[in-house]
Amino acid sequence: MSEFRITRTLPEDAMAAALRADVQNGLTSDPKTLPPKWFYDARGSELFEQITELPEYYPTCAEREILAGRSAEIAAALPARTLVELGSGSSEKTRHLIDALPRLHTYFPVDVSDTALEQAGRALVAERPGLNVHALIADFTAALALPHSPGPRLLAFLGGTIGNLLPGERAEFLASVRALLSPGDALLLGTDLVKAEDVLVGAYDDAAGVTAAFNKNVLSVVNRELGADFEQDAFDHVALWDATNEWIEMRLRSRIAQTVKVPALDLAVHFAAGEELRTEVSAKFRKDGVSAELDAAGLGLERWWTDGEERFALSLSVAR
Ligand code: AVJ
Repeated sequence: MSEFRITRTLPEDAMAAALRADVQNGLTSDPKTLPPKWFYDARGSELFEQITELPEYYPTCAEREILAGRSAEIAAALPARTLVELGSGSSEKTRHLIDALPRLHTYFPVDVSDTALEQAGRALVAERPGLNVHALIADFTAALALPHSPGPRLLAFLGGTIGNLLPGERAEFLASVRALLSPGDALLLGTDLVKAEDVLVGAYDDAAGVTAAFNKNVLSVVNRELGADFEQDAFDHVALWDATNEWIEMRLRSRIAQTVKVPALDLAVHFAAGEELRTEVSAKFRKDGVSAELDAAGLGLERWWTDGEERFALSLSVAR
């Protein structure tokens, strides 16, 4: 017998409160910032899906290549009975892994979007008798508690989303991941790799303008949720490579001097002409750096797989 359950550990109003706090802090700081997690309303999630199909945006197909080719090796290295996936979205790439784990007892997809969880979860339970799918609506950057399930546990964090965290946030995040694991359990982590600047910038500034629309969509989210009057056309999409920090930054550059009102926060935000709002950091990694960060969190790197062009890596690290 298999079953599908969905549990909300994120209070309905917690997201709204977090958005208010992030917008208040980010738009009153210098330089101005907004955290990338607010891109993903229904429209933003749809635009991200389109990004993954762009010729310039290589991470999704590179990671899919690794999962399609290496899932049997991953499963042999860690024959998980419980699979936890943070930021699971549609769980599409994860199917390779699930299909390679015959002894899998419970799959916990974790996401802030309930619609993605519901659809993917029900389809999976129908196809895989004996597998329990327990979807968790949660913000994985906050403390996460998992219901009891059999070990060994494999926790997957794919897509390179760890790159959206700043170095200090990454250390905190990896420590909280380690806290969910027992010795012998493992983390399967997707990391985008450092490569030629034109390839990196192209992936975040595509010719069709989909990434520009995705970037500007965060302004619509703030307009809708907090009554703000951002005009998308008053901003330009900017993607640049920071070679010192080895990360891509996405920004929105004000084309004119303007004042934007955010009524729900009783806030008026002035932008000088040319002033930039940072909306995302997407860090790119090297094997040594990934290994050191995992090690600092109590996770020992055991396996490292890349796609044929060495654009993207999946690492398997085991909790000490
Ligand atoms: C979903 C966080 C992995 O950083 O590449 C895509 C988001 N931003 N294009 C990334 C994104 C711009 C993406 N992640």
